[in-house]
Amino acid sequence: MAQVSSDALVFYGATGDLAFKKIFPALYLMVKRGHLQVPIIGVARGDYDLEKLKQRAKESIQKYGKFEDPIFEQFISRLAFVGGDYTDPETFLRIRQALGSAKHPTHYLAIPPSLFPSIIQQLDQSGCAKGARIIVEKPFGTDYASAKQLNRLLLSKFSESSVYRIDHYLGKRPVNNLVFFRFVNSLLEPVWNKHHIESMQINMAEDFGIQSRGAFYDVTGAIRDVIQNHLFQILCNLTMEPPKSLDSESIRDEKVRVLKAITPLKAQDVVKGQYFGYLQEKAVKEHSKTETFAALRLHINSPRWEGVPFYIRAGKHLPVTCTEILVRFKHLPSAYSSIASQPNHIRFRISPDVTVAFGMLIMAQGENMASVLSEVQGNPTPFPNEKDAYERVLTDAMAGDPTHFARQDYVEEAWKLVDEYLSADHPVFDYEPGTWGPESVNELICPPGGWNNPSVTKKESWK
Ligand code: BG6
Repeated sequence: MAQVSSDALVFYGATGDLAFKKIFPALYLMVKRGHLQVPIIGVARGDYDLEKLKQRAKESIQKYGKFEDPIFEQFISRLAFVGGDYTDPETFLRIRQALGSAKHPTHYLAIPPSLFPSIIQQLDQSGCAKGARIIVEKPFGTDYASAKQLNRLLLSKFSESSVYRIDHYLGKRPVNNLVFFRFVNSLLEPVWNKHHIESMQINMAEDFGIQSRGAFYDVTGAIRDVIQNHLFQILCNLTMEPPKSLDSESIRDEKVRVLKAITPLKAQDVVKGQYFGYLQEKAVKEHSKTETFAALRLHINSPRWEGVPFYIRAGKHLPVTCTEILVRFKHLPSAYSSIASQPNHIRFRISPDVTVAFGMLIMAQGENMASVLSEVQGNPTPFPNEKDAYERVLTDAMAGDPTHFARQDYVEEAWKLVDEYLSADHPVFDYEPGTWGPESVNELICPPGGWNNPSVTKKESWK
């Protein structure tokens, strides 16, 4: 069913937070661009109806999109609603009915993972799975064992080519640009290896807490929420070998190779933290040990990367909201070594603004032989009609293109790496909101030259 376009979209969790913030605005833009001309069926539990759903969609698009009456009219003319319990076969019979003559619907599970098994069973029993595609939100499972189990269940009802495991970071152009930039610039490949690169670090800082997502976050934590998926995908883009062609499987094969080559993490390679005040957040368990911050040190055991340390750090309530990568180069021995004050670097900022910067040393002002670091920046011009990450991945899934989705072997390898450190047994250090995490992180895991703490001045965002 790889390249067949879907002829209906059913999304579960239509009244949820994700639908409000991301899915309605994305679907609306798809309608606006003419990329979604099929029935859209919202499904939710509880006391809801189509009128209320339309109102919620309107509020969502007004808040997170660019609301225009005629487009919204088109959008809601496609919208239908089915309410009911996800364990009740009646709900799925109503969905089957609402699908009418659609032969290749896409079912999008934008709901907590605990509900996946019953929905998958019900889709199968009601006939809704026939000819269908399924999109599953991240995290895919909660650890290695549950991801395998979920996959077994999915593959008993759907073929692998019909399963789309969402990681919206794969829909971000600046994340895809990492691979593009590496392989289209011929000057990079000769130096993109252990002989020239000293270290790489990936930082994902958010200056806000868990907001109203306590119930989700407290059973998830930073490693499951963003590291096992978003940040490992970034790591793969930075380190994978050139794919033999640009088809989805060649690219996904290379990513899996990277994960397989990562040396198992030791306890000293993982630092977890929790911000003060987390335990008072709504729906968080008393004495919860869930991490809102994590820092990891990794090594990739491959001819290209042997001996190069990679660092990943992510946290809530840090000083800024910014995702940035810093690649530091080695100093090469020469008569100038003592003057070279700092290493060269390449800095990729993914958000809130997009930058690719090359840090190089130039002669400082004055008569002395001294160097100063200066950056040459390539800032892509923000493109007003740029697709949002969710719009891009949903458009791709509806069209049957799996390139920007995680494959099962990738998901499993990613879980294997972090599995041991998900449990509450690993120590969790406190940190003050508005700081760069627990103080101990700098003693326990510190990149050569220190952590890159990005500062954010620009307000524009380009996702
Ligand atoms: C989500 C996480 O997947 O990504 C959130 O669940 C996080 O906790 C979000 O805030 C960050 O996404 P973005 O696109 O705003 O960087």
